[in-house]
Amino acid sequence: MSVDHAQLDRDHLWHPFTQQQGWVEEEPLMIERAEGAQLIDSEGRRYIDGVSSLWCNVHGHRHPGIDAAVREQLERVAHSTMLGLSHPGAAELAGKLIEIAPPGLSRVFYSEAGATATEIALKMAFQFQQQRGGQHRRRTSFVHMRDAYHGDTIGSVSVGGIDLFHSTYRPLLFPTHAAEPGDAADLERVLACHEEEIAALIVEPLVQGAAGMLVHPPGYLGDARELCDRYGVLLICDEVATGFGRTGTMFACEQEDVAPDLLCLAKGLTGGYLPLAATLAGERIYEGFLGAPEEQRTFFHGHTYTGNPLACAAAIASLEAFEQERTLERLQPKIELLGELLEPVAAMPEVTEVRRRGVMTGIDLGEHDPALRVGHRVTVEARRRGAIVRPLGDVVVLMPPLSIAEEELRRLVAIAAESIEAACETLATRAPDTLAA
Ligand SMILES: Cc1ncc(COP(=O)(O)O)c(C=O)c1O
Repeated sequence: MSVDHAQLDRDHLWHPFTQQQGWVEEEPLMIERAEGAQLIDSEGRRYIDGVSSLWCNVHGHRHPGIDAAVREQLERVAHSTMLGLSHPGAAELAGKLIEIAPPGLSRVFYSEAGATATEIALKMAFQFQQQRGGQHRRRTSFVHMRDAYHGDTIGSVSVGGIDLFHSTYRPLLFPTHAAEPGDAADLERVLACHEEEIAALIVEPLVQGAAGMLVHPPGYLGDARELCDRYGVLLICDEVATGFGRTGTMFACEQEDVAPDLLCLAKGLTGGYLPLAATLAGERIYEGFLGAPEEQRTFFHGHTYTGNPLACAAAIASLEAFEQERTLERLQPKIELLGELLEPVAAMPEVTEVRRRGVMTGIDLGEHDPALRVGHRVTVEARRRGAIVRPLGDVVVLMPPLSIAEEELRRLVAIAAESIEAACETLATRAPDTLAA
């Protein structure tokens, strides 16, 4: 007897960032397989993976090198702990990450998600300032950008600024200070106002992804670094979304020659294969935690699956693919092509703005009544036409795998444009309550 997976889903699953009331009324799309930049559903239909399986796939699905590396690791061991033990993959990957990371970063602390990478960076910054002692102990607060997104754990939500996701939890969160995105004068105002209370500034360099691909003006990150130095504040760069080529360089920080004190990586770290995150720290921070056990300067943090060997094997193979396939070099003409393809999209009457850096693209459809679910309607239309996109409100996000073929890229942008047109056309002809499902 065949299993009805769709029914089991409706009966028992609870999906992330999903209003289940609407979900159970729709037929869930079951992805069974994938190949390169395409996802394949249980009926054998193919879709371009227009958001890289939520911004993490890099070299395409079923990449032979990464597949083989995970299989080979399975022949050795699937998991052993990093608490009190080590393993070759974790050490090798740490060495490789330090080689490609901005200068000054020398230590790698693993976890499993973007949220944990940022949570760890916040805790490290806080504890570092506490352990410096003296007046540094007053540095107990953080500065973040308005509309920032750093994950869904309570610490990462505390430095987040997306009201729709975060406001419910406000009573649980620690107090922070928000600065205007991309506005160095405002950042200076906040830092000057709270001088000596701030442990660190956390920022998504160049592009605030979840805010709707909000692009900072050139020079902002460099200014932020300089201001942090001037006010004795640590700089945490959250490259969970921007890392591993999404903005056109391996890390977004490189584009402004900025070296953060702490760097958060996840999503693309394993090529989008397995959950692995890393928080990279400089030697000054690391040394701030050294001491005899009884001094209790230890970083008391660690997860069961920290530095999982299968995930480390995938990450090493992904970094090898970057080198062997000259991924970043081959990406540049695709970024240019994407820019050309988006020009007519930006001119569409339904589109208020197209924001982009590298392959991180937000097509803003402007302000609509949330009940109309315009972004969702674009997703449904795109699916019919053979592409998976997931909007942020009414901003249609495109962020294909770096390995996408030019022809697939053309098709993806064409589908996005057609879907926007179709979704907005239905809006014009239907009343809002008939679209609210
Ligand atoms: C900049 C940034 N930080 C952190 C996260 C959280 O990552 P995860 O979903 O792996 O916890 C995200 C996720 O979109 C992100 O965009």
